[in-house]
Amino acid sequence: MFISTFKRTHYCGDVGIADVGSEVILMGWAHRRRDHGGVIFVDLRDRSGLVQVVFNPEKSLEAHEQAHRIRSEFVFAIKGSVRERPKGMENPTMKTGGIEVLVDNFEIFNESKTPPFVLDQDTEISEAVRLKYRYLDLRRPEIQKTLILRSKVATQTRKFFTENGFIEVETPFLTKSTPEGARDYLVPSRVNHGCFYALPQSPQLFKQLLMVSGFDRYFQIVRCFRDEDLRADRQPEFTQIDVEMSFICEDDIISVMEQFIAEVFYECLGQKLTLPFPRLAYKDAMNRYGKDNPDVRFAMELCDITAILKNCSFKLFQEVIASGGIIKCLKIEDDKQLSRKELDELKDFVANFGAKGLAWARVLADGWTSPIFKFLSAEEVQAINAVLDAKEGDVILFSADTPKVVNDSLGNLRVHLAKKLKLFDEKTFAFSWITNFPLLEYSESEKRYVSTHHPFTAPVLEDLDYLATDPGMVRARAYDLVLNGSEVGGGSIRIHQKAVQEQIFRALGLEEEEARNKFGFLLDALEYGTPPHGGIAFGFDRLIMLMAGVDSIRDVIAFPKTQKATCPLTDAPSKVAFAQLMELSLKVTE
Ligand code: AMO
Ligand code: AMP
Repeated sequence: MFISTFKRTHYCGDVGIADVGSEVILMGWAHRRRDHGGVIFVDLRDRSGLVQVVFNPEKSLEAHEQAHRIRSEFVFAIKGSVRERPKGMENPTMKTGGIEVLVDNFEIFNESKTPPFVLDQDTEISEAVRLKYRYLDLRRPEIQKTLILRSKVATQTRKFFTENGFIEVETPFLTKSTPEGARDYLVPSRVNHGCFYALPQSPQLFKQLLMVSGFDRYFQIVRCFRDEDLRADRQPEFTQIDVEMSFICEDDIISVMEQFIAEVFYECLGQKLTLPFPRLAYKDAMNRYGKDNPDVRFAMELCDITAILKNCSFKLFQEVIASGGIIKCLKIEDDKQLSRKELDELKDFVANFGAKGLAWARVLADGWTSPIFKFLSAEEVQAINAVLDAKEGDVILFSADTPKVVNDSLGNLRVHLAKKLKLFDEKTFAFSWITNFPLLEYSESEKRYVSTHHPFTAPVLEDLDYLATDPGMVRARAYDLVLNGSEVGGGSIRIHQKAVQEQIFRALGLEEEEARNKFGFLLDALEYGTPPHGGIAFGFDRLIMLMAGVDSIRDVIAFPKTQKATCPLTDAPSKVAFAQLMELSLKVTE
């Protein structure tokens, strides 16, 4: 056969009008085959796209005869000449739709079993099947597109940081537990019986040590491992763009990171972003959006009406206020879409966030249609209308409960409704920095304060006295970057003084011995001339997911895990041989 002696001349998607009349050699997979009696058409696919190749018995009887064998996903090469498609036969939806290649000769390299699913972008395929046959799934152009974007962004990231004086340093995977708040993946040590490494939840401590070592500016595109409950935007192993800088303050980091993001969006998407990104204090984000990762592509802000209703005679609201709760509401402007049934059903949505109910009101020229109208005074209704600037036709939704339940319910309902009612352009990118986080939050389950970020985050020094009296009041020198309602990055200025670090460990309830045990090496390092420093880490997968406009983080990872942290392709995790366990001195109990 001829192909072994010939070389591919073009990628399929690159053949164009300019090539009409020339001979090409193409290689790829049979995407679709149509047998029109006399003539066989095949869409040949490689990573660049599709091109129509034509087997015509008048051109080559032998090739046409052989082409009857071609089925979906057969991989083959053709040699042929490019010609314009006959008038009326062009396909404007295809990049190569103006031409086709008339085949002289071809060779099938390999046949394919009938694939378990059609690689057509319109077909809905169950994710379990897609992941089991991921190598086929990855042939689909839309997934290839996101992985190609991912590669571009990684290249651009390295370029930006290298050009700006950052040094790429690798840090260990077999290490000691790093506290980012999730469970660790443990790896048993064979040579140290009974001892375990932890896979890093992030390179946090190592990058701080690199600052102690004087590297000044560090970055790494690095895998992190966290054993936590998975969601659409969470994977047990994921990638961070990890950065640390010395002799800087918040504004220095924020400014370099904004330039980085702007450059990546421009170079990889052609998207111009306006700098600087808006900044929002944590408290304001919670008040206005009910979340610390607000989607600011649309307004529809929450409004606290507790003060208006403080003397209200509706028993339910009275009780909530008396027990320290709050009442907030949300206004849908000029609503013509939600039926009464749909309004009632929103209760089920907020029930997911612990809400026991959701009252609603439709604003009329004189009063409201609402199940709670009869419980409120005319003054109260008027005051609520005024503070919301509510007009006839608007709908108001009310939640009364603890601040957490109210914010969770209305914060998520706001996003749910904006999507349902199409209140924003899905294609815009709205960034914001969230600042002034509390350093510590009280954990009901652990009955102690825990770090909002991680224990190495610097407190605002003038707040330190609160540690003794009201630890929740201490502000952190931390910042998150939020894009379209998703936390894409988080970082902080770090503690660089040993005494402060020990004080924070104490506030977290870490006994001295435990602190030494876990982080002794950091406390030691802090005694050898540690510079002021800080940094950030971006969730690389999340960033790509948003840039690519896909809904699942699994669509931007070549070989992702399922929601249950398994890999259907390799069947990981799996049982291991008894001998292997023996070597590690491990025993599995039922
Ligand atoms: P943090 O824990 O906020 O900070 O992580 C940084 C960013 O990583 C992304 N991310 C994830 N992405 C996918 N799957 C996950 N399971 C997952 N968990 C986190 C998020 C998040 O914003 N060491 C600190 C950074 C620092 O202080 O410099 C850290 O890891 O987008
Ligand atoms: P009821 O008198 O129990 O029928 O409640 C009157 C209205 O208040 C109904 O529309 C309920 O959905 C609503 N409601 C109940 N609990 C809450 C709550 N915690 N917050 C807001 N509205 C509520």
